[in-house]
Amino acid sequence: MRKYFIAGNWKMNGSVDLLNKMHNALSELPVQGSNVTAGVFTPFIFVQHAAEIFKASPIVVGAQDCHWMSSGAFTGEISPTMLIEIGATHVILGHSEIRRDQGDSDSRIGEKAAAALNAGLTPIICVGESLAERNSDSTIRIVTQQLDEIIKASTKPLTNSVLAYEPIWAIGTGLAATPDQVQEVHSAIKEHLFDNHNLQLLVLYGGSVTAANAGEIFACPSVDGALVGGASLKPTEFSGIVLSAISAAQR
Ligand code: PGA
Repeated sequence: MRKYFIAGNWKMNGSVDLLNKMHNALSELPVQGSNVTAGVFTPFIFVQHAAEIFKASPIVVGAQDCHWMSSGAFTGEISPTMLIEIGATHVILGHSEIRRDQGDSDSRIGEKAAAALNAGLTPIICVGESLAERNSDSTIRIVTQQLDEIIKASTKPLTNSVLAYEPIWAIGTGLAATPDQVQEVHSAIKEHLFDNHNLQLLVLYGGSVTAANAGEIFACPSVDGALVGGASLKPTEFSGIVLSAISAAQR
C-alpha cells in the first residue's frame, strides 16, 4: 500500500473559525489507518490552537517556517523548539514565497532543516523552478542543484524529511503542472536523491492542486502527496483532496 502526505499551507490566511470548520470537515474522513497523513500548516499564531483542536485526531499540525537557531537575539523570529512546545510536529521550509520575500537561500534552508530535525520536527522542504528556468529546459538541473545545496548545508541527514516539488509558475496561478511534467521531475528527484545521497523520501507536488486534479496527480507513480495552498482554505475542497489520497493509497 502506498503512503501519501497531504499538507495544507494556509499562508497568511485563516482564522480560529476556519480551524473549527476544517476540523469538522476532516473528522468525517477515514484518515485513521489509511496510510495517508494529512496536516494543516497555519500561521504561527494559530499553531497552538490548531494542535489543541486536532489533538485527538490523526491530523498533524505544523508551521510554515522556523529559525535556524533554537534561541537567541533574533527579534521577531520563532524557533523550532518553540514550535515543538506548542504542539507542532512538522514545518514547511524553503517555500518559494519565503525564498522570494525573505531571501532564504538553499544553504539557509539546509540550516533550518537541521535545526528543525534536531528539535524533533519533520521538515517539508520545498524546491522548484521559475517559468524562465522551465522554458530554458533547466528544471531538473535547478531542482537537483537546490537539493544538493540544502543537503550540503544541513548538519543532520535529511532521512526524516519530506520534499515538495513546487514549480513557481504553478503556485497560486490555477495552472498546475501536467501529470507528465510532475512525474518527470519527481522521478528525477527520487533517482538523484537515491544515487547521490542514499535518501528515499516522500516527494509531494505543489502548485494549484484542487479536488478536481488531485486524482490524476496522485496516480503518478512517483508522487507521494500534495502541498496545497489556495484549496487548503476551503474545508470541502481540502477534504476532497485528502479523500482522493485515501482512494489512491488503496490501489
Ligand atoms: P497553491 O499553492 O495550491 O495555491 O498553488 C501551493 C503552495 O504555495 O504551497
